Amino acid sequence: MVIKVDLKDLETLALAKKIPIMQKEGLSFMIDRLNESQASSLLEIGSAVGYSALMMASNVEGLKIDSIELDASRYAEACQHVEAYQKADQIALHLGDALTYPLEKLAYAPYDCLFIDAAKAQYQRFFERYIDLVKPEGFVIVDNLDFHGMVNDIEHIHNRNTRALVRKIKRFKDWILHHEAYDSIYYPVGDGIVMIRKKEQHEVNDKY
Ligand SMILES: C[S@@+](CC[C@H](N)C(=O)[O-])C[C@H]1O[C@@H](n2cnc3c(N)ncnc32)[C@H](O)[C@@H]1O
Repeated sequence: MVIKVDLKDLETLALAKKIPIMQKEGLSFMIDRLNESQASSLLEIGSAVGYSALMMASNVEGLKIDSIELDASRYAEACQHVEAYQKADQIALHLGDALTYPLEKLAYAPYDCLFIDAAKAQYQRFFERYIDLVKPEGFVIVDNLDFHGMVNDIEHIHNRNTRALVRKIKRFKDWILHHEAYDSIYYPVGDGIVMIRKKEQHEVNDKY
């Protein structure tokens, strides 16, 4: 685990305001993968107040990040933090719905990594919208696929809305883990991470 720059103040601030941010264990797993692969570009879906983008930009040398956030006040806060930590040269923040955001406004495509950390019910739609912007040798990270252990214990969830959400997360997890065009590995790290890579095109075609 190689977190050299730990933005403790920002983490504390986000947690105090009950803003959902990526767990440290998952974040450090991701930073390690980005450093190992010498990633230079990343698209994040779900900036919140900029914590994970700032952690990645501070711990992966030269990484350029596009990050999309739906909520205007969180976006404004993320902009302030990116300025305060002097990372505007590495992080481009975008205000909008990632399901419809104009692709031509993104600064750093194509990407070495796509990181999906927004509305959990929409994971598959985010994935399908942005996978073509990932370089052939790049990878995708999706967080929260355990959803606090609930994904493996759906029958015991009493709240109907929560149960419906958890079913959607499980559906995405099953879909991607069995998709013939992708190699996906589940890691029980943080809140459950899946790392996805495109299979070589000929491997998929060989099956026919
Ligand atoms: C879990 S938080 C992101 C945390 C952040 N990645 C971190 O670890 O610091 C998810 C964020 O996704 C945003 N979001 C939800 N739906 C979205 C959408 N359709 N497009 C862009 N952002 C969205 C939410 O407003 C929320 O701030």
